[in-house]
This record gives sequence, C-alpha cells and structure tokens, in this order.
Amino acid sequence: MTAHDNSSLPIGVFDSGVGGLTVLKAIRKALPNENLIYLGDTARLPYGTKSPASIARYATQATAKLLEHDIKMLVVACNTASAVALELLQEQMAPIPVIGVVEPGAMAAINARPGGSHLVLATEATVRLGAYSKAITARDPDAHVREQPCELLVALAEEGWTSGNIADSIVRRYLDDAANDAFIADSIILGCTHFPLLRDTIAAAVGNSVEVVDSAGTTAVVVRDILRARGELAESTEPGTLRLLATDGITRFARVGGQFLGEPLTAEDVHLVDL
Ligand code: DGL
Repeated sequence: MTAHDNSSLPIGVFDSGVGGLTVLKAIRKALPNENLIYLGDTARLPYGTKSPASIARYATQATAKLLEHDIKMLVVACNTASAVALELLQEQMAPIPVIGVVEPGAMAAINARPGGSHLVLATEATVRLGAYSKAITARDPDAHVREQPCELLVALAEEGWTSGNIADSIVRRYLDDAANDAFIADSIILGCTHFPLLRDTIAAAVGNSVEVVDSAGTTAVVVRDILRARGELAESTEPGTLRLLATDGITRFARVGGQFLGEPLTAEDVHLVDL
C-alpha cells in the first residue's frame, strides 16, 4: 500500500479504560479530519497496579485487536502501558509507527521548566519503572525528578469527584508524601491519563509558581508530525469518524468516558469487543 493510500486509514488509540479519551480529545482537536478508533480495555482496568508481565500481555492483545482495523498509526494513550510495553509494541507493530505518552509528557515538562525539579504523579507501575525520570534526565541531565504513585486519584477521576474537600484532601496527602524532604517541585507532571480531570484541584494545591503539565497536547503534536513526515495525514476536509471499542461495561464506559472526552456518550456509541 502506498503512503497516499494510508491517509484515510484510522489512527488507533489504546488505553486501559476511559482515561485515554483525554489524549484522544487532544488528537481530535489538533487533527479534526482524522478517522480515529479507540480501544479501552475496561475488562482489565486498572493496569497501574498490575505486574509488568500482565500489562505487557494485555497491551499486546489490545493492540492486536486494533490492528484488525487496519490502522495507520498506534497511540498508546496509557502512561502505564507506555512505561511498560512501548518498545515491545513498536517491535510487534513495525512498520506501523507506535508512540506512547511518557516521552511527550516529559518533553512538555522540560519545555516548561528546563533544568527544573519535576514531580510526576502517576500509577504505581509507572513509578516503579521510573519511566518519566529516565525520559526527562536523558534529555535534560540538569533536571531533578521525583515520582509519586497516586492510585486513589484514578478512582476519584472515574467517580467524578474531581473537586471539593475529598479530592483536595487526597491530592494534598499525596503531595505531602512526595515533599518529605528538601525536594521542591517547580513542575507537576500529570503522568496518568486520569489526572487532567483533577488539574484545577492539583494546581490550587501547589500554587501559581508551579507549572502543571500533561502529555495530551504534546502527544497530538507528535502524532501530527509523524503522519506529516510519512505523507499520511488525512486528506479529507470532512470531520473524521470516531469508533469506540471497550472490553467490558459499555454503559459505564459511555457515562464515565463522556466526562473524559468532554462530550456526552451513550452505550450505543460504544462497541463491546473480546480480545
Ligand atoms: N491509563 C492508566 C495510566 O495512564 C491509568 C489507569 C490504570 O491504572 O489503568 O497510567
């Protein structure tokens, strides 16, 4: 197939559940004419507390499902899966380009605070692998990075409790845990797909001098640059299509996912798939 033929193929976006819809939203905004297909592995969510072996196996199965839909590119819109399995997926999907969200998130932080002190809020698995520390210090050796697991924030975002006393207390508790010595962050990296929903609460807790960054916008830019370089950007001037797949609970996917996407969804918008 020629590069020209690939332009109308969909971009595949994969996450452990609904969180990756924050990334999909940014891709849709940057590239409104692209056809998109999103798979949320809701049957096996959360990935963040699982072992690397399980996460790699789940990610391999989920991306194989997306490959059945003849995608031209894969975005691993899950920090945990990006941290654990990006290289594996790149090997398995070659020559289809595969990008994760950790590198774009790291770049966003470096651009915001060169040589800065970055506090990464992420899942247990992402923190255990030190994925953000490696990505940041490889590009900016002067930077300091601390990573804080924040599993409860995933549940808070899914529950829609993103502001108010409960969210504020839990956010502050994690920030206190991370600040138990002289480390003073000048950037906070939202290193989990769910945390952009808590951005205002986190920003209020850390104060104006601290930059709060996430990977959604920079990931969309990377997608655009790669497709442009390959001559595979959509040529249509019509709005792109969106197909949503989930491995369990399409009603919950629609209800919770609508908050992440920023527009209402119904169960009819979501297709149940088995991996
Ligand atoms: N999508 C995951 C991430 O960005 C969060 C949810 C999970 O643990 O599966 O790390």
